[in-house]
Amino acid sequence: MNLCRRLWKYILISIILYALIFLNLDRIRTFSSESSAIEFIEIPRNESKTNSFIAHFKDQNHSYQFLTVPKKLCTNNTKLQITILSTAGNFDIRQAIRDTWANPNNSKHVLNNDVRISFIISAVENEFLSFALQKEIEKYDDLIVTSLYESYELLILKVHAILSYKQNYCDSADFQLKIDDDMAVDMDGLFDSLSDKRLANVDAISGIIWKNSPPVREKKHRWYVPTSLYSQKYFPPYIDGPIYLIGRNIIPKMLEEAKNYNQWVIEDVFWTGIIAKALRIKQINWSTHLLRYVIELIPSRLKCSKGKPLIYAVHNMKGPIMIHDGYKKLKGVKCE
Ligand SMILES: *[C@@H]1O[C@H](CO)[C@@H](O)[C@H](O)[C@H]1NC(C)=O
Ligand SMILES: *[C@@H]1O[C@H](CO)[C@@H](O)[C@H](O)[C@H]1NC(C)=O
Ligand SMILES: *[C@@H]1O[C@H](CO)[C@@H](O)[C@H](O)[C@H]1NC(C)=O
Ligand SMILES: *[C@@H]1O[C@H](CO)[C@@H](O)[C@H](O)[C@H]1NC(C)=O
Ligand SMILES: *[C@@H]1O[C@H](CO)[C@@H](O)[C@H](O)[C@H]1NC(C)=O
Repeated sequence: MNLCRRLWKYILISIILYALIFLNLDRIRTFSSESSAIEFIEIPRNESKTNSFIAHFKDQNHSYQFLTVPKKLCTNNTKLQITILSTAGNFDIRQAIRDTWANPNNSKHVLNNDVRISFIISAVENEFLSFALQKEIEKYDDLIVTSLYESYELLILKVHAILSYKQNYCDSADFQLKIDDDMAVDMDGLFDSLSDKRLANVDAISGIIWKNSPPVREKKHRWYVPTSLYSQKYFPPYIDGPIYLIGRNIIPKMLEEAKNYNQWVIEDVFWTGIIAKALRIKQINWSTHLLRYVIELIPSRLKCSKGKPLIYAVHNMKGPIMIHDGYKKLKGVKCE
């Protein structure tokens, strides 16, 4: 009995010790050496070009850098830049996207560099993850790594980074698409629609428009908006966050206008609602071309219009299998 109790004590102590050491390994390593894990990701860019950016808001400023950008650049025929919001650990989701809608074998416009697609992620301090990311960067050259840290509250900064990146690295492209990594896309269908002035304009934002949405006033809610930040009963019309297209001409204006407003948490309301309203930016309704749920991937929704598939993209693809499946269904639509 006594022995048993003593044994338990030792086991317990070793578990606690193990947990303490293991969980703090990263911190111990960071303290023990000056160089942090993210620093061995090299910046494959002209060093003389300044790489520091500041997200200016009325109440706060945040400086950030692009630690890695793709070596392959926009070309003068690049019309659309797509930046997919991803997080460092989502390796298999990025791979599913590379294997489906972002694959040059599946899209002539990706192949021709008419469309440039990359993922934007935040730097990580975990050495194992950094190592895997470095391999991924070498192999695919499609990651933008920022020094911002990952958090829902800071999505607004990530969109700032997307806009700065567009302005500084792919200015000539007519359009920037911001898209989450849980979508399946008919790439060429979407691209071809950009030549229709009613669907895309270099002075406008396109996507699903939300009208008359009231702010959440419960303090504990993720989307809480204090009246001190925004006092009106409804948000201005804004574009649904998972996918929106921004025209080239308004990007510098949006970055400039943001300086006059306090920083928000809700990224889509801020950039496509508050800022867009202040600048009187036109919003283009893509509702008929986008699906929001998997259950909408049915023949009665996957229709044709004027000899072309009506739907460009579907949201809420949870994981790589759904991305493959959603993509297959979008591409399975045969018209005329
Ligand atoms: C780097 O950029 C500077 C100024 O933008 C330019 O003068 C220089 O030639 C560039 N160097 C390389 C190696 O591209
Ligand atoms: C942000 O930076 C700008 C320019 O450097 C400065 O004028 C402004 O006071 C700063 N704002 C805050 C809240 O720190
Ligand atoms: C695009 O760039 C290539 C190579 O730099 C050049 O030869 C071509 O004239 C350019 N095309 C346009 C439309 O500017
Ligand atoms: C495109 O297809 C070729 C030939 O099947 C294959 O070798 C290549 O890996 C594919 N590229 C991508 C990005 O999947
Ligand atoms: C967008 O278009 C859809 C379908 O035509 C329509 O039901 C919806 O009311 C429109 N939304 C706005 C904000 O105009």
